[in-house]
This record gives sequence, C-alpha cells and structure tokens, in this order.
Amino acid sequence: ALPARVKIVEVGPRDGLQAEAAHVPTPVKIELVDRLAAAGFANIEAASFVSPKWVPQMADGADVMASVTRRDGMIYSALTPNMRGLEAAQAARVDEVVIFGAASESFSQRNINCSIAESIERFRPVAAAAKAAGLRLRGSVSCAFGCPFEGEVPVQAVQDVVRRMLDLGCDEVDVADTIGVGTARQVAGVFDALATVTPLSRLSGHFHDTYGQALANILAALQSGVSIFHASVAGLGGCPYAPGATGNVATEDVLYLMEGLGIVTGIDLDAVIDTGDFISRAIGRPNGSRVGRARLAR
Ligand code: HMG
Ligand code: MG
Repeated sequence: ALPARVKIVEVGPRDGLQAEAAHVPTPVKIELVDRLAAAGFANIEAASFVSPKWVPQMADGADVMASVTRRDGMIYSALTPNMRGLEAAQAARVDEVVIFGAASESFSQRNINCSIAESIERFRPVAAAAKAAGLRLRGSVSCAFGCPFEGEVPVQAVQDVVRRMLDLGCDEVDVADTIGVGTARQVAGVFDALATVTPLSRLSGHFHDTYGQALANILAALQSGVSIFHASVAGLGGCPYAPGATGNVATEDVLYLMEGLGIVTGIDLDAVIDTGDFISRAIGRPNGSRVGRARLAR
C-alpha cells in the first residue's frame, strides 16, 4: 500500500542554484526561499556552507539565511562538509545540517576531496557537535544508483555508507541518484536492501532526472515504502562534480503525481508553479517542469 502522506523536501535553492553557471543575485535566492515557504513546504534546503573555491555559487549562504522570513516549524537545511561549515551554519541559525558522502570512492574524491573512510571521520565531530547543539542531522549518500566515474555501484557499498551515516546519528539519510541513471526495478532492489539496515521511514529518495527516470523511480520507491522525496522547483540544477548531470526531478511534477495518487503533501501546487515561473525567468532558463510548462501555457 502507498503511504497516505509524504514529505517533499525542496532542494532547488541549494542543489538547483549551486549548478548555475551565471551568478544568481542573493535577493533572488531569498525571494525563491520565501515563495517556497509560503507554498507550504516544511523543509527547504536553502544553503551550503562549503568552500567558495569549490562552489562559488553558494558563497552567500549566510546572507540568504539572514534575510529569509523565518517561519515557525519550518526546517531550513544546509550542507556542512566539515566543522567550519557547521560553525557557519550554526551562526546562520540553520535548523538542520547535512553531511554528504558517497557510495563511490571516485565521486567522494572529486566532490569532497577525501576517501569514503576519511569522510566519515571528518563527519564524526560535525555530527556530534550538531547533535549537541540540538540540530537535526541528515546524511546524504551520492551515487547510490551509479557513479559518473565508476559506473555500477554495488548495493553493499550503499548499505555500508547508509549504516555509517546512521551510526553517526543522522535522523534521516538521503539515497541519491546523482546522475539520474537508476531505473525502477533497481531502485526497488536498493531500497529493499536498505530495509535490512534501517526502517525506510528514515530514508529519502533524492533523484536527479538526467535520464528521465525520476518519476518512475519515485513510484518504485513509494511502493517499496519510502515516504520522503527531494525535488527541485522548475527542475533547477545539475551537479558541479558530476559531468552532464541535470537537475533534480521537478517539484511540480512530483506534486502532480502525488495528487493523482491521492497522497497528501501539504504543498500548494499552483504556488509552486508560480515559483517555478519566477525563478526560471529570474535566471533566464527554460522552465524544467513539464507540469509547470503545461499549466503556464493554458
Ligand atoms: P579541501 O580543499 O580538501 O579542504 O576541501 P581544506 O580544509 O584544505 O580547505 C580548502 C579551502 O577551503 C581553504 O581555504 C579552507 O579555508 C576553505 P584556503 O586556505 O585555501 O583559502 N574551506 C571552507 N570555506 C568555507 N566554508 C567551509 C570550508 N571548508 C574549507 N566549510 C571541502 C574539502 C569539503 C571543503 C571541499 O571539497 C568542498 O567544499 N566541497 C564542496 C563540494 C560541494 O559542495 N558539492 C556539491 C554539493 S554535494 C551534491 O550536490 C550532491 C547531493 O545533491 C546528493 C546527490 O545528488 O548526489 C547532496
Ligand atoms: Mg543532488
């Protein structure tokens, strides 16, 4: 049976905008986050506290967090790869921090400049300090369904990193298809394997839509028992360390699917469509949501 309700985490302001080649003005980012909050999301990934040399697009995270209209009960999340990132996130009064690793060694090296084992040791103090400060802690596992450098990724590698993230104290772990290569049966297999590691209520599906499989993969994950999904308004994004990758599945398309399935999200699809139109115009990009384009053309 499908869940009656799912949580959709909006990652466009982070995963989407981190990949924009052109500079996105800070006020545009702030308006994007505020519009998304008004649309009803309970969790928005709004910033990254990473090296500005690695990802210059995210260098204004503190300014974004300082100016968004904070709403009660809303979880604003940010990526924190190390202690320096955690301290910046705390100063910015972020509610949830995200440690991000990978199930493939090559991607770990390219993305965060260390091995998987080294990353876990680097995350350990970050996780401990986050917990001590009462922050929510999320882990992200890239390349769970394939790696741009290594190809196939063994499911045991995914299980292993998910287990280590949970051991560090993560409340939730994101199982990410960084390059959008997974297909539905594979997705069901990976989540079935992960169900032997943890209750699936603690895992989320983070699907990029590079190969057009994301909605099918979400349906497969739903049927396996996953009830948290990440999505990016207007399908914004790509990944700076995954050549050829495109954005996350468009939030509008996921909401439309959920509506059709009778699954409650608490999010206003029309408001998200308007927000997708706003951000696509603001950054001068075609709207990457099929539902958004169809509705806006009416
Ligand atoms: P490093 O070079 O090994 O680390 O980078 P370092 O400690 O030697 O620091 C290098 C420089 O960065 C130093 O500056 C530090 O001060 C500075 P310098 O002395 O050269 O002037 N620095 C920082 N500055 C600001 N905030 C910080 C910070 N840390 C160091 N927190 C590091 C290691 C992890 C820092 C680097 O590799 C990095 O920042 N990587 C970020 C990669 C990234 O953001 N990737 C995109 C997000 S992940 C993603 O999109 C995948 C996801 O969506 C899931 C999926 O789809 O797969 C989550
Ligand atoms: Mg991603």
